[in-house]
Amino acid sequence: MSRIRIFDTTLRDGEQSPGVNLNKMEKLEIAKQLEKLGVDVMEAGFPASSEGDFQAVKLIADTIKDVSVTALARTRKEDIDRAWEALKNTPTPRIHIFLATSPIHMEYKLKMTPEQVIQQSVDMVKYAKERFKEVEWSAEDATRSDWEFMAKIIEQVIDVGATVINLPDTVGYTTPDEYGRMFKYMKENVPNINKADLSCHCHNDLGLAAANTMAAIENGATQVEGTINGIGERAGNVALEEVAVALHIRSDRYSYETGLKLNEIKRTSDLIAKLSGMYVQANKAIIGRNAYAHEAGIHQDGVLKNAETYEIITPELVGVSSNTLFMGKHSGKHAFKDKIKEFGVEMTDDEIKATFKRFKELTDHKREVTDDDIYTLIMETKTEHSAVDKYTLDNFQVNYGTANITTATVSLKTPEGSTIQTAATGNGSVEALYKTIQELIDAELKLLDYQLNSVGGGKDALAESHVQLVVNGETVNGRGTAQDVIEASANAYINAVNRYLIKTQAVKEAEIVNG
Ligand code: KIV
Ligand code: ZN
Repeated sequence: MSRIRIFDTTLRDGEQSPGVNLNKMEKLEIAKQLEKLGVDVMEAGFPASSEGDFQAVKLIADTIKDVSVTALARTRKEDIDRAWEALKNTPTPRIHIFLATSPIHMEYKLKMTPEQVIQQSVDMVKYAKERFKEVEWSAEDATRSDWEFMAKIIEQVIDVGATVINLPDTVGYTTPDEYGRMFKYMKENVPNINKADLSCHCHNDLGLAAANTMAAIENGATQVEGTINGIGERAGNVALEEVAVALHIRSDRYSYETGLKLNEIKRTSDLIAKLSGMYVQANKAIIGRNAYAHEAGIHQDGVLKNAETYEIITPELVGVSSNTLFMGKHSGKHAFKDKIKEFGVEMTDDEIKATFKRFKELTDHKREVTDDDIYTLIMETKTEHSAVDKYTLDNFQVNYGTANITTATVSLKTPEGSTIQTAATGNGSVEALYKTIQELIDAELKLLDYQLNSVGGGKDALAESHVQLVVNGETVNGRGTAQDVIEASANAYINAVNRYLIKTQAVKEAEIVNG
């Protein structure tokens, strides 16, 4: 079995999905879970793109020890310097430099000649090599580039120290046969190709990302780049869980293996869906809700007689288990701490105390608290940012009836510590609630998106809401949970406003530090 290295870019390419906006604590929790999943490399962000991204990459690089942490950079000295600043404390830093090589990108986007693209790539790989042992160079839009030209540039960047060559299907345009032949061509036509790893990076615009990735592996790629749940720009990136499980299940056909702990897939997928607000479609391969459900009578009958009649993957393989019943009103702190240990989440005493309080509040309304509920509460505490005084929901009431005008009354605690209250009407409960909160908050607010989901099943399931708001011209996401759907909606809205406050405060602090 040859080893395929898994390069996870959920925190960089995945975070570029429209509507995804993770704060640094959320990114850190995802990074820790990716470490548990066993990825080989994680791309933590693009430090030169914003102060927030720089801080998040630095926090991850300062924390993660068992996975190589990388960051994206354009072929510019200032990007490479910024990436080094962010990555210098991680044991195995890697830089990922990219420059487009397709005629359309060179002519219209870069306004550079092919010779200039070669020169700039060579110069910047050389520059990066002064600091980084591991230098990855990507030919952006490789699948619409001239192969002969690419072979020439690849040879030169390897000569000056590139250790990984990535050939992305940036616009999701290629087909399995074509992508496979491109890797084979580079293996056969770049004289020094064995001095570097070849990497594939597929986008899913034509729904071919997984098939293209498999073709690249069969033709010499030793690294696969992708995201969990396939999140990413437009139609997304290849879903890493699909590639890893396909290699495992069809080991009769593919003599390649990854280092992923497959039974951590479900937890990783759930965490990313929860924190990004990008829920997984029910029929998604490997981790969709329906992936292990059998509806048709003939299928159910077959599965009862022998599961393998219709089930090629066991749910246990990827960590899908039936939601175990956990605790109730009388459960104590000891059992609660043991549960946290079982999840493998590190928590400070204060965090345990805050989560236990949330758990106790939940048991006032919910008789059977499940693992999913507990994990949701843990992540609420872990990703909460308390560095800024924020708005908090004091209390609210919504009167809704088919024959009434819906009215909401909301009382909020302001960042300054006072209590403010007002009432407003709306066409429905959520609209009335949001209009009332809008009147109380001193900012220009516009709701772009609203989602409501239940955590697990059952009539007393915890509700989880995601919103996207524009606050004073800036787009932010918010997330809230509660036993009641309206309260979860209120929490999500207020959470988005608080995230805006945290973000603006962080920017102000950075401006002071950077002069
Ligand atoms: O899709 C792409 O081309 C990328 C590069 C930056 C590697 O994400
Ligand atoms: Zn990409």
